[in-house]
This record gives sequence, structure tokens and C-alpha cells, in this order.
Amino acid sequence: MKGLFGGEAVYKKIWEQRKQRSPRRSAGAPGLNCLVLGGGGREYAIAWRLANCNSVTTIDAVPGNAGLSLFTRVIDQSPDNVSWLDEHVLASFIDLAIVGTDELVAAGIGDALRRSGISVVGPSKDASKVEWSKSFAKELMAEAGIPTSRSESFADAGAAKEALAHWRAPVVVKADGLALGKGVTVARTLEEAAEALATPPANSGRVLLEELLEGEEASLQALVDGEVVVALPPARDHKRAHDGDTGPNTGGMGAFSPTVVLPDDQAQAVAEELIAPIAAALAKRGTPYRGVLYAGLMKTAAGWRVLEYNARFGDPEAEVTLPRIEGDFAKLLFALGEGRLAEYIAAEPIRFSKRHYVDVVLCAENYPGPPKTGMPIVGLDRLPENVLAFHGATKRNATGDVVVGGGRVMHIVASGDSIAEARDRAYAGAERVSFEGKFYRSDIAQQEVAVA
Ligand code: AMP
Ligand code: GLY
Repeated sequence: MKGLFGGEAVYKKIWEQRKQRSPRRSAGAPGLNCLVLGGGGREYAIAWRLANCNSVTTIDAVPGNAGLSLFTRVIDQSPDNVSWLDEHVLASFIDLAIVGTDELVAAGIGDALRRSGISVVGPSKDASKVEWSKSFAKELMAEAGIPTSRSESFADAGAAKEALAHWRAPVVVKADGLALGKGVTVARTLEEAAEALATPPANSGRVLLEELLEGEEASLQALVDGEVVVALPPARDHKRAHDGDTGPNTGGMGAFSPTVVLPDDQAQAVAEELIAPIAAALAKRGTPYRGVLYAGLMKTAAGWRVLEYNARFGDPEAEVTLPRIEGDFAKLLFALGEGRLAEYIAAEPIRFSKRHYVDVVLCAENYPGPPKTGMPIVGLDRLPENVLAFHGATKRNATGDVVVGGGRVMHIVASGDSIAEARDRAYAGAERVSFEGKFYRSDIAQQEVAVA
């Protein structure tokens, strides 16, 4: 992170400015000036949802992507440049900042932005350790009495390899730190586990061995303000690269919400059981959490188990859950970022729409390996009704065409009155958008359609 402890003078100016309440930046009615940090599908979904709120006047996206430039001001700056962020908050009268990505959260951008006194959705670096260190998460789970898989943490792969002798296959090998969803290997044999320990990212730094859990996964995101926990609509994602849950783990190949595995009406109770105790443990340690806390869950024969926590919205979970949150989402986030979540929710209880959403992710050739980029994307003007294209890794080339900019290129997000309808629409949309090397899974939400 660049220039973290720069310019007290900037904060003084921001405080002065805030005393006068946000002057208008644009010709619209006075309202919230928002800043979204990141540039993937999740940040697109956040900005899109904010853009649908009457309370919002402006949205800035840093660094954004080619699609975000259609309805936000995209600023080509590094989102971890703190002295620039401070100046930007001041110059653009920013009221609400949302830290989108795990790297920015872990770099302490939430802490840096909070110094200016604006509303920030994004936990402190210390509180987000629950995501950036899996061994810390396990420690906290033990302290808070959260059911999770048995595990052992090692200083390095060498020590883990020696300990393998005491483990029985199958075993899960996990890098301790952030790995863009690619740090986990489910090893069916001890040889496979040893192989994973010899390859990145497991072969550098702290690593965990974990008991394999069997069951159905669900993703539960919650707004957390100290000890106050408000569940968002549950979702499921598909992490493996290929159909039938084969191939390597990815950041996520698709998602849907709601889900029969964790119905909407059980979300708050499960969040009280599996997220609130973690929030309480963090508060007790003097590192209270303020932001979105995401629990990756597995419904086993013995009940719910937590696989991991993430200190941010899920990606692609945000794409299918944020459209389902009714009411003025910006005001809700603003209250959270100001530490007024309990008060806000008491007056405006959260409501989820009954519509079903499915996201099919269009990926670039070779993802999750280094993707092939630069190919033009066509067909965005030919999407069927009720289908949206949430841009992920897109950019513009010198002539202004929208081109592939990374691995998860485009999220085709469709809605319907049933999961089957939403799924059919998403796939109709996925076929119409093309670029060289495009691939996607053909079985997103397939099983859900069968059981719903
Ligand atoms: P994580 O990043 O910890 O959520 O792991 C990514 C994915 O790996 C999870 O969503 C699961 O599909 C799988 N996984 C992780 N830990 C386990 C486990 N202990 N048992 C079974 N699958 C797991
Ligand atoms: N979809 C999993 C994640 O956001 O980490």
C-alpha cells in the first residue's frame, strides 16, 4: 500500500467538508457520492445495485472495467494508492466507500479510508485476518465454538509433508494466505497431497491439512457491524473449472440464488449461529468487524460446517444476491459504514425479492491458468430480455472496442420466476456473447433445477 500515513491536513479538510454535509458534485439532487474499489464482476454488481438507488447521486469506480464506464465514472488509478484516495475523497465529496476485493481489504484500505471519517464498508486489516489467514480463522472458530473440519497448521510445506504420515486420504491441502480461490487442493491420495504441497501456492509459507467434508455447499454473506449481524440472501457457487465439478478450483464459474440447500427464511438463524460468534470474538479481541462477512458452508450429515470466511462480498455470489435485496441498498450500506446498522435495520428491515437469479461466467481461454487476453467481445447488444451482462475482466483497446482483460470476463446474470426460467435465460445470453477462446460451464444451477 502506497503512502499510508500521509497528510493529516487532508483529513482536516474532509472533516470540515463533512460538517457542511456533502455539497453537490453534480447537477443532481443532493445524495450519496459513492466510491467502489475494484474492477471485477462483484464490483460491477455493487455499482449496478447502487445505481438503482434513489439516494445515490454519483458513483466512482477505481480501477473499474470497460462496462462500469457506461454508468459510473471510471478512474484509472491504483485503488491502493492511499494518498490519492484521500485527495479523491476530498475533491469528489465521497460519502460512502466500498472496498470490493480481498487484496484491498487485506492491505488495510478500510482502515486508511476510515481515517477520513466517511462511511466505509470494508473491515480493518486486523478483522479481515479471518480471510487472509486460514489458520487464524481456524483459531477463531475454535474459540467461538464454530463447527468446522479438523485441521492442522504448519509453518511450511516441509513440515506438512512429514505430518502427512499421520493423515489418511482423502485430505485437503490449503495455503494459509489469499490465493484467489485457487489455494485449495482436495487430494484423494496421500501422493496427490504431497504433490500439492510441492506446487504453488501451498509450497510457500504456512499451509494447512484438513479433513475432507462431504455434503452440499452454500454461501452465506452477512452485513456485520460489531456484534450486529444481518444475513443477505443465501447463494451457491460453482468453484471447479469444468462440468460435473471437475478440474481445478477457480474464483467461481457461476452462481445462483435462492437455493433449497439454505432457504432464505433460514439465513438469519444460520448467520446467528455461524457468523455472529465470529463477529463477537473479533469484537472481544478489540478488532471489531465492519463490512460484509461471508461464510462458505457445507451441509454435512452431521449439520452445518464452516469451510472458510471471506471479508467481503463473494464473487460471483454478489452478482446473484445484490439484485435480490429490496429497498435502498445504498442507504443500508451507508448506515453499516457509519456504524448504525442496528438502528437502520430496526426502522427498515431487510427484504429479499422472490425472484431467482443465475450467473453463468464466461471465461477466457486457459483460465484459471494465465488467461489469453485482448480478444474483442461481441454480442453484448443482443442479450435477451431479463438478461444482464455484468462485466468482469474487460477493458477497452486503443480503438475503443471492449476486449478480454483477464480470466473471468463476463457474468451473464438472468432472472426468472423460477430457477429453471432464470437458468434457461442465462444460457441463452451466454450463447449470444462471444469472444475467441470463450468457455463456460454448462451445468450451472442444473442440480438446483432438478430438486427445486
Ligand atoms: P475455501 O477457499 O476454503 O472455501 O475452499 C475452496 C473450496 O474447496 C470450497 O468451496 C470447497 O469446495 C473445497 N473445500 C475446502 N475445504 C474443504 C473441506 N475441508 N472439505 C471438502 N471440501 C473443501
Ligand atoms: N465465490 C467465492 C469467493 O468469493 O471467494
